[in-house]
Amino acid sequence: MSQYKLVRCNINGKDVERMVDVRASLTDMLRNDYRLTSVKKGCEVGECGACNVLIDGEAFNSCIYLAVWADGKHIRTLEGLMGPNGELSDIQQAFIDETAIQCGFCTPGFIMSAVEVLESGELYSREELRKRLSGHLCRCTGYENILNAVEKTMKRRHGIPVD
Ligand code: FES
Ligand code: FES
Repeated sequence: MSQYKLVRCNINGKDVERMVDVRASLTDMLRNDYRLTSVKKGCEVGECGACNVLIDGEAFNSCIYLAVWADGKHIRTLEGLMGPNGELSDIQQAFIDETAIQCGFCTPGFIMSAVEVLESGELYSREELRKRLSGHLCRCTGYENILNAVEKTMKRRHGIPVD
């Protein structure tokens, strides 16, 4: 039996296809085959959220998602958030403005989960946001600034003034 399978999917708006080892994780496929190095390898057991990407609009830990399951799916990573000339998206800029980054290792995963929250169109309370981002670990920044960044971006998208 072949150890490789053809995986056709759409990554950050582009249709792609590649033979993939059936044992490979989606993290490995994105990093090694497509050089999308925003997808970080942290715990690799689904505990830290550093590898989070959006699959058909839903945030998943890509380390515990087989690459072959991505066949036919739409995958988004942090690289896909930027504008055509590398402009940062509002949520990326908010992480900078709120000093929600130190080493940055956890940041792409947090931001992809934040994108899921923002695109839901819901207006979450601070506590609900905390729960929705609870699958992520940050060893340096602390969570308050991260929550500030997500909360302020969510409110701005709803037209609610923030300082
Ligand atoms: S690297 Fe995937 S959850 Fe930690
Ligand atoms: S900024 Fe370093 S782990 Fe979060």
